[in-house]
Amino acid sequence: MGIRLNMLSYPILLAFLSVVAAAPNRRLYSSAFGYPGQNASFDYVVIGGGTAGLVVAARLAETASVAVIEAGGFYEQDNSNNSVVPLLSLTGIAFIDPTATFTPQPLMDWSLLSQPVTNAGNRRIHYAQGKTLGGSSAINTMSYVRGTIGSYQRWADTVGDQSYTFANLLKYFKKSCHLTPPNLAKRNSTNATVLYDPTVFDSSGGPLQVSWNNWVDPTLTWLAKAVQAIGLPLSPKGFNSGQLNGYGSWVPSTISPDHAYRSSSESSFLRQAIRDTGIIVYPHTQAMKVLFDSSSPPKATGVLVSTQGLEYQISANKEVIVSAGTFHSPQLLMVSGIGPSSVLESYSIPVLSDLPGVGQNLWDPISFGVSYPVSTPSGQSLTANPALAPGFVQQYLTNASGPFSSAAGYLSCERIPEALRRNLSASTQAKLATFPSDWPEIEYIVGSFVGANLTTIAAIVAWIPTPFSRGNVTISSASMSDPPVINLGWLTDPSDGEVAVAAFRRLRTIWGTAPANAIKTGPELLPGSAVQSYADILNYIRQSATQIWHACATCAMGKEGDANAVVDSKARVFGVSGLRVVDASAFPFVQPGHIQSSVYALAEKIADDIKNGN
Ligand SMILES: Cc1cc2nc3c(=O)[nH]c(=O)nc-3n(C[C@H](O)[C@H](O)[C@H](O)COP(=O)(O)OP(=O)(O)OC[C@H]3O[C@@H](n4cnc5c(N)ncnc54)[C@H](O)[C@@H]3O)c2cc1C
Ligand SMILES: *[C@@H]1O[C@H](CO)[C@@H](O)[C@H](O)[C@H]1NC(C)=O
Ligand SMILES: *[C@@H]1O[C@H](CO)[C@@H](O)[C@H](O)[C@H]1NC(C)=O
Ligand SMILES: *[C@@H]1O[C@H](CO)[C@@H](O)[C@H](O)[C@H]1NC(C)=O
Ligand SMILES: *[C@@H]1O[C@H](CO)[C@@H](O)[C@H](O)[C@H]1NC(C)=O
Ligand SMILES: *[C@@H]1O[C@H](CO)[C@@H](O)[C@H](O)[C@H]1NC(C)=O
Ligand SMILES: *[C@@H]1O[C@H](CO)[C@@H](O)[C@H](O)[C@H]1NC(C)=O
Ligand SMILES: *[C@@H]1O[C@H](CO)[C@@H](O)[C@H](O)[C@H]1NC(C)=O
Ligand SMILES: *[C@@H]1O[C@H](CO)[C@@H](O)[C@H](O)[C@H]1NC(C)=O
Repeated sequence: MGIRLNMLSYPILLAFLSVVAAAPNRRLYSSAFGYPGQNASFDYVVIGGGTAGLVVAARLAETASVAVIEAGGFYEQDNSNNSVVPLLSLTGIAFIDPTATFTPQPLMDWSLLSQPVTNAGNRRIHYAQGKTLGGSSAINTMSYVRGTIGSYQRWADTVGDQSYTFANLLKYFKKSCHLTPPNLAKRNSTNATVLYDPTVFDSSGGPLQVSWNNWVDPTLTWLAKAVQAIGLPLSPKGFNSGQLNGYGSWVPSTISPDHAYRSSSESSFLRQAIRDTGIIVYPHTQAMKVLFDSSSPPKATGVLVSTQGLEYQISANKEVIVSAGTFHSPQLLMVSGIGPSSVLESYSIPVLSDLPGVGQNLWDPISFGVSYPVSTPSGQSLTANPALAPGFVQQYLTNASGPFSSAAGYLSCERIPEALRRNLSASTQAKLATFPSDWPEIEYIVGSFVGANLTTIAAIVAWIPTPFSRGNVTISSASMSDPPVINLGWLTDPSDGEVAVAAFRRLRTIWGTAPANAIKTGPELLPGSAVQSYADILNYIRQSATQIWHACATCAMGKEGDANAVVDSKARVFGVSGLRVVDASAFPFVQPGHIQSSVYALAEKIADDIKNGN
């Protein structure tokens, strides 16, 4: 360029660079994509542009060069408005169907199918996982709820690092998201009171958007009253202050309130990073293997990637961060030489770190429901009506309100009440007692669907945040081209069946309350009144249970030497250097509440650790 740099020009150069860095929109959007087939090198390479991966990548890109390797593309394009419009996250994403006969959507989902689940009717479960920028934050149901004070204390104690207490994580929860108070005019509802504690959010936090639905489903207001009638009042603080048990709440969602669009890690973190940093994304590119040098311990030096079959290498001068999710992160570690040596050796994979915990310790809570036909309208029954739908689309597009702007919204949590607890076996009671006292044992989700002739079918679903059964993830070859092998392990521990039956009996109690009786228009639809005995209820649960998509902990965080520990409390993989795992797989165990909040916070925390040289 002919510009001579001497000591004097440095301040000028730095001033110029800082202006360029701060200037918004100076960068062409198209400049944010790597060139397929060309080897390249960066300070950090993040594998998986999903929920956690884009947070880590965006934060690191503020001060370093970063590449993101993502197997999918952009959901806004690949899934039309189904991933963007809140109501369609419930009705439009047909491919989350958990049955083995699901309709595949290869541009959005990995189409993972579990092994037959022995204790759940030998069913094979389709386990949807986002294959797109944003990952599962682009296909989830968007509820934004944190765990409990006791659950994070247990995390801190398990991993031997008190920075995981709720009080200490709070700055990362706050940093990741921006909360917009409910728009009461748009909600247009006096019987869906939103209570929350504004001090657990920070007005300077973001870029993830968290807000309340701009419309309230009438059926849910009745179901909320029904759950309240069994003794679970509205929480005065809401579900983001570390307290869940014994309450219900109209919870916020990851929705951007201005247009009522889904807020994902792509629409928030990635877009901000593309505007403000030099981040480079490799879409439609799969990580095939993490590469290591021959030092001792081996250091991760990069990633072998494949863009639709074209293979090349992306090198990492500093670190490789694996954020490929609960099923693919352990698979990628194993294929790269990190995992149980017996498994690796059986596929001739050279063992770099013999870590028996890789792929073990899968926590996957199950859910099941009881449904009735009801007299009240619902978002789905209203929008299924061809006479009304165009008006609702207009209302959504012009006002970001009405049924299309809304997704789910009312959750409740409790511990098994005494009358049912007494009937649990002594061993089940003892096992439940190992959880912190504020950890709920049953969580409820109320839902409404369209039935025949535009009627409404209401479901109250229970899920079990204290699963004792563990599944596992393993490999069937040394190649990432083959899917991971998933054993969900549901109901292998008999205590889970006992707890599930107790939860099921609570569902019937809820459906027997006055607010529920006021809207029923017929007999119980599912499972139907014939199912009464303990054995019949357990059988119904075995045949019908589904996941709530909170699978986690397959690359568990822990203390070095713990049986399942794969990463330390800074998310560094044991036995190698320059490699971390940052996503839901790195949780030590599942959290109560809903886990995306913790995925975002964990990613913020580890990004901070890395930037601080830890
Ligand atoms: C249907 C559904 C509903 C849910 N509802 C809620 C909810 O309402 N509230 C809540 O809190 N949580 C919910 N969850 C859970 C939550 O969304 C997930 O736990 C969270 O998004 C997981 O984040 P992650 O970063 O671990 O993985 P992901 O977000 O899944 O990211 C993994 C990324 O890695 C990519 N990848 C994988 N392998 C490779 C490879 N080899 N090379 C390159 N890229 C790769 C994937 O394509 C993906 O983009 C839901 C999940 C699902 C699936
Ligand atoms: C990329 O790097 C690898 C390893 O050094 C080398 O074998 C390969 O030829 C390089 N590919 C290109 C396109 O430069
Ligand atoms: C749009 O929302 C406002 C409240 O913010 C409400 O007063 C108005 O009636 C709404 N308009 C439509 C078309 O829904
Ligand atoms: C607000 O609610 C009332 C009563 O349910 C209804 O008649 C009215 O149309 C609603 N307004 C909007 C903008 O949805
Ligand atoms: C709440 O208000 C809405 C709108 O007026 C109504 O449709 C619904 O029936 C009410 N729910 C209850 C529990 O009163
Ligand atoms: C979503 O897209 C479909 C197909 O283009 C369209 O018919 C529908 O109206 C859209 N829905 C909304 C809420 O925009
Ligand atoms: C739907 O309407 C049709 C025609 O009125 C009727 O025959 C049928 O029984 C109705 N079905 C239900 C489930 O209400
Ligand atoms: C995984 O779990 C299944 C049972 O759920 C068990 O049969 C299998 O041996 C386990 N596999 C590994 C690799 O641990
Ligand atoms: C109590 O539990 C036993 C099995 O442990 C079961 O047979 C019985 O039906 C249960 N009773 C109730 C009321 O759930």
